[in-house]
Amino acid sequence: MARKVVKKTAQPVKKSVIKKVKTSLKKVASKSTKKKIVLEPIMMQPPRGMRDILPGEQEYWNRIRMVLDKEYPKYGFGRIDIPAVEYSNLFVRSIGEGTDVIDKEMYSFLTKGKDKVALRPEMTAGIARAYIQHGMNVLSKPVKLFSTGPVYRYDRPQEGRYREHFQANFDILGEEDAVLDAQIIQLAHRIMGNLGIKDIQFQINSIGCPCCRKEYIEMLISYFDSKKKKLCKTCKARLKTNPLRILDCKEDKCVQVSATAPQTVDHLCDPCRDHFKDLLEYLDELELPYAINPQLVRGLDYYTRTVFEIWSVGEEGKKRSLGGGGRYDKLIENLGGEPTPAIGFALGLDRLAMEMKRIKAKSYESPKPRIFIAQLGSLAKKKSLRLFANLEKEGILIAESFGRGSLKSQLRSANRLGVEMTIIIGQKEALDETVIIKNMVTGTQETIPQEKVLNAVKKTLKTKPMIIRKKK
Ligand code: HAM
Repeated sequence: MARKVVKKTAQPVKKSVIKKVKTSLKKVASKSTKKKIVLEPIMMQPPRGMRDILPGEQEYWNRIRMVLDKEYPKYGFGRIDIPAVEYSNLFVRSIGEGTDVIDKEMYSFLTKGKDKVALRPEMTAGIARAYIQHGMNVLSKPVKLFSTGPVYRYDRPQEGRYREHFQANFDILGEEDAVLDAQIIQLAHRIMGNLGIKDIQFQINSIGCPCCRKEYIEMLISYFDSKKKKLCKTCKARLKTNPLRILDCKEDKCVQVSATAPQTVDHLCDPCRDHFKDLLEYLDELELPYAINPQLVRGLDYYTRTVFEIWSVGEEGKKRSLGGGGRYDKLIENLGGEPTPAIGFALGLDRLAMEMKRIKAKSYESPKPRIFIAQLGSLAKKKSLRLFANLEKEGILIAESFGRGSLKSQLRSANRLGVEMTIIIGQKEALDETVIIKNMVTGTQETIPQEKVLNAVKKTLKTKPMIIRKKK
């Protein structure tokens, strides 16, 4: 039955109707919220210390990811992904109260379910938790774990220091031998080399075990106590909470006092001294660039014996820590697992990318397409979509500009990309099951049946890539 079509014309809405609607809306709003709705302006930027890494900045990041993905399996590491959020007390127990990371930098909060959780300020604590939880102690030793992702520290942002930064962690669990310490430093050296970062130095120290450290700390307290007046305010407080940290304070006056402080390496127990001696011998054997730094204590309490950092030694003398790590032989046990010696390190990926940019290291160049598909008309668009999928299945990289209707603008895109061949499908070709092959170097073109496209493409790709000047 034919429907009667009523043509509606827009009628001006009566003022009384508008008033009615407005008052009823007001009633609904006040009933549902009982509050005035104030829309806060949206800040078009992420929180301070966090940032976007745009496609144009990814060249170094891509190279870093590629090198890491290639290296970790070679050294027998298995990848582990852990949550970015854990219960806060895991970090407090692992990293220790009195450290800057716990006292000042941790993003901790209560969930809606009243759980005390925190954004991970580092990954070692989570890895140790996962090792215990999943009973990895039954695996054959050593257990080698690789993990990567963002970590969060509420620190004062500055160049190379962010509140969200990215790390790659390498951890070896279950072996105490210093040869593992040397191997992990060798791995760090290899990765840096593969990234093109050659001017580095490993800063190394041994901070002993709880047994020898106890006596050393007492000695350190009495030394700093006698020079208390010369210490900065923070270090005066550290004297009570974490005296070891005074050693790596960057304030000039503290640096001066620390220079003559008792050194950890002079007060190691015999097993710790032997361990450190063995490590240095291995490093000499491997001819790795290292320096003993008695001031290096690191800011995380779980470390025992070996601690190290990877410093870039730039021309302008500015030293930056690109990565750091050490042994944490007691952490698993302190968290409730069985005694499990361990060593690991993390690379700061933001700093690696920055350093690579500074030294103009080789970046990752993504493969460039050499073929373009252009289409004209709706049937041709469908055909080209299928052709794109078929060629892509063959592992052929294709560029396209499907959203554009005009052939001229598509060919302009093809030129800009510097491709060598454009496959054109117009209305006629779509119906005939043919395509036009345009040689973008010579400008010649020919029509071929669709089933011959793959061969034509393969033939072009077999030739050496032609460098075509891109049109602006
Ligand atoms: P970390 O030294 O605190 O060690 O951090 C590792 C690296 O992350 C640093 O050397 C630095 O390159 C980078 N980094 C640290 N804080 C920032 C920041 N705010 N902005 C940018 N980059 C930063 C750890 O986190 C230990 N969990 C490493 C480890 C793994 N130890 C044993 N296994």
